[in-house]
Amino acid sequence: MDAKPSLLLRATRPEDAEALADLMNLPGVRRGTLRLPFQSPQEVRKWIEGRQPGDLGLVALLDGKLVGNIGLRRHAGRRAHAAEFGMAVHDDFRRRGIGSMLLDALIDSAERWLGVRRLELTVSFDNEPAIALYRKFSFETEGVLRAYAFRDGAFIDAYTMARLARL
Ligand SMILES: CC(C)(COP(=O)(O)OP(=O)(O)OC[C@H]1O[C@@H](n2cnc3c(N)ncnc32)[C@H](O)[C@@H]1OP(=O)(O)O)[C@@H](O)C(=O)NCCC(=O)NCCS
Repeated sequence: MDAKPSLLLRATRPEDAEALADLMNLPGVRRGTLRLPFQSPQEVRKWIEGRQPGDLGLVALLDGKLVGNIGLRRHAGRRAHAAEFGMAVHDDFRRRGIGSMLLDALIDSAERWLGVRRLELTVSFDNEPAIALYRKFSFETEGVLRAYAFRDGAFIDAYTMARLARL
């Protein structure tokens, strides 16, 4: 009998750059995020190494293969209680609970260990899987950002969503 595949979450490391670039270059990930086309491992490595204190980066590994990531960026000064995040799951490994595990870990770390009160994000108006995931985790839509980003030849609107910690 085959062993059950094991999913591990851990901090992002600079040596993940190559696998993360592969993930970022997948068509579904590019479409759902603001990633530029043809990301190189060197660019991704710089991005990983450019994290500020208080930022958080996690990857999901399924039997050692990098299948997802999530990153938190905390704001400063009078917005220090707020943080934004972005996430992606490998095109071939969606709808298996990986996004939920990543988001659950991020919310737990942000709210219960970093004292973040407000988690915020933007999402393309038609990214139904992501919007459904965020609603499942009690994010609420706060507004529409018109012509927010350029995607596949057209400007698209985005929603801004947020979740307030109930501590
Ligand atoms: C959004 C994304 C992270 C979801 O990851 P995932 O691993 O597929 O999510 P999960 O399997 O944990 O699903 C969690 C919930 O999300 C919702 N969901 C996920 N995929 C869905 C789909 N195709 N249609 C409708 N709802 C969906 C459901 O509510 C689901 O809960 P359920 O399975 O109990 O019904 C993934 O689709 C992705 O990486 N997309 C490309 C990049 C992207 O859009 N990132 C977000 C930028 S804002």
